[in-house]
Amino acid sequence: MPAAQPFVPAPRLAPSAELRTVHIGLLGCGTVGQNVLELLSRRRDIFADIGVKLEVCGVLVRDAARERDVPAGTPLTEDPGFLNECSIVVEALGGVEGPLALLLPILRSGRAVVTANKAMLAERWDALRGYAQAGQLYYESAVMAGTPIIGPMSTVLRASAFTRLQAVLNGTCAYILTQMEGGKPYAQALSEAQALGYAEDPPTLDVGGFDTAHKLAVLARFCADGDFPYSAVQIQGIENVTLDDVAAAKAVGERIKLVATLERVGGGWHASVAPTRLPETHPICTAGAGRNSMVYVGEECGELFFAGGGAGGLVTASAVVGDIMDCVLGFPGHVPLH
Ligand SMILES: NC(=O)c1ccc[n+]([C@@H]2O[C@H](COP(=O)([O-])OP(=O)(O)OC[C@H]3O[C@@H](n4cnc5c(N)ncnc54)[C@H](OP(=O)(O)O)[C@@H]3O)[C@@H](O)[C@H]2O)c1
Repeated sequence: MPAAQPFVPAPRLAPSAELRTVHIGLLGCGTVGQNVLELLSRRRDIFADIGVKLEVCGVLVRDAARERDVPAGTPLTEDPGFLNECSIVVEALGGVEGPLALLLPILRSGRAVVTANKAMLAERWDALRGYAQAGQLYYESAVMAGTPIIGPMSTVLRASAFTRLQAVLNGTCAYILTQMEGGKPYAQALSEAQALGYAEDPPTLDVGGFDTAHKLAVLARFCADGDFPYSAVQIQGIENVTLDDVAAAKAVGERIKLVATLERVGGGWHASVAPTRLPETHPICTAGAGRNSMVYVGEECGELFFAGGGAGGLVTASAVVGDIMDCVLGFPGHVPLH
């Protein structure tokens, strides 16, 4: 038997007067981007503690002249040329092909990308998977925003054989269905959600179940199959849920939620998004209004429950900035199953 090798922990960071400057590029300065800037400035001391001074070398927007609530001197621009100078790029644009075209050259050159963009991750995994496997892609905020789920699923939960998950991952649908329980018809609840800024216009990504399906595809790559295709998710939205459906569920102590489910069926995996009746005592029903939630079951870890804010500027920024910290500390990004 070979002699046991001693465990050598990674070197500790020595406090240093000299801070290393890390150049960051930010794509987008909307709900997420603006709050990432705010949180980076709040956490400047923590970055200094780990020996780093972050310098934002550009913030890409469509209209650089528009008034915004950003720190003085924020380098807003409509020209992505600054990306050449950045070692970390944070993407908070939205869309699929536009951000991908900007990010691929960054990834090809071996640099790191932090993204909140579940649509791009779900739909263009063919182009991104290799970089995720190389540890260059960080995306905690893409599912359940600031509620950490991708971190545990890509690390500690892998020791346990995954069995099943059930989750509510879209706040707009949760809001609409809750309003319907109070007697408002679907169309009225939807237009209120739009007026409050919860639902996009058009709202199809949310109410059609596609946003939830994007998130489920991203999660499936950590616990089912590293190449899980978005197209394999069966999707049904909430557009056809009626007040009668909601009342019939309520009469027997149940509630209707838009539920993402991933489970083993036979030798494969079944992934679906659909309006689902759950007992009103189910943890997903008692998680609290406005919260995303997930029941995760593994053979050895048993049944786990995650719940928290699934959208919103600072909530989402907390996960984005956490990813930036991991990156500057040298931790790899979120690596899918091989
Ligand atoms: N909002 C949330 O709570 C949340 C939570 C988790 C994940 N996400 C994800 O985070 C991403 C961003 O969401 P958001 O809510 O922050 O969106 P948003 O408020 O609409 O902001 C988008 C930003 O991107 C800029 N932009 C869009 N297209 C552009 C283009 N072609 N060229 C240059 N700039 C462009 C916009 O510029 P202008 O300001 O000039 O228009 C804006 O600053 C999305 O992928 C979303 O799914 C959001």
